[in-house]
Amino acid sequence: MVMEFKNVEVVKHPLCCHNLSIIRNKNTKAEVFRNAIRRITYLLFYKATEDLELENIEVETPLEKCIAQKLSSKKEIIIAPILRAGLIFSDIANEIMPFATVRHIGMYRDEDTLTPVWYYNKIPVEFEHPENKIILILDPMLATGNSAIDAIKLFANKKVPQKNIRFVSLISAPEGLKRVTELYPDVRIITANIDNCLNGSGYIRPGLGDAGDRIFNTVEN
Ligand code: URA
Repeated sequence: MVMEFKNVEVVKHPLCCHNLSIIRNKNTKAEVFRNAIRRITYLLFYKATEDLELENIEVETPLEKCIAQKLSSKKEIIIAPILRAGLIFSDIANEIMPFATVRHIGMYRDEDTLTPVWYYNKIPVEFEHPENKIILILDPMLATGNSAIDAIKLFANKKVPQKNIRFVSLISAPEGLKRVTELYPDVRIITANIDNCLNGSGYIRPGLGDAGDRIFNTVEN
């Protein structure tokens, strides 16, 4: 059954599907795993940034003057990776948007309660002109939705409009998407797939296991 959630966009590109098949495989080694995620990340960001505002500027080519378009100077793009797995996305985000501000969000999941535990965030107490901030929250796995909700809240409470916030994930669970979209219906969620469900430990099925452990090669056998 295909589930529809408001403002959730699934990037069903053949190259996403192909690379997902690589990272789902439990025998894929960390280096290959990371490279396959990086390839998917470009496609996710293509979607997540397709509505960025532009402004006209005059430039002179070697032949003549012309009007070209650049990203709006009024908007500040903020990349907010949720540590630690979100770092794999922020490497690529930095590469394609080197002018962006990076504001790390440090939280881990308490394995008993499945709730996020905060240990760090590099977010100012308040934002000047929050309406001009474009936020890209990055976390490969949107599972229960708890960390996504907390991270979105961090910016929404500082008056960043929901429509300016995007959550980028590799794989999402329907349970988490339902919770996030009910609370924040105008936040855009960009993901490469919506999987079947969560297991009793809050892992996505079929998923890919613990994304952070597989990225950083800390899977304990
Ligand atoms: N976090 C992960 O890394 N994997 C899951 O399946 C769920 C949360």
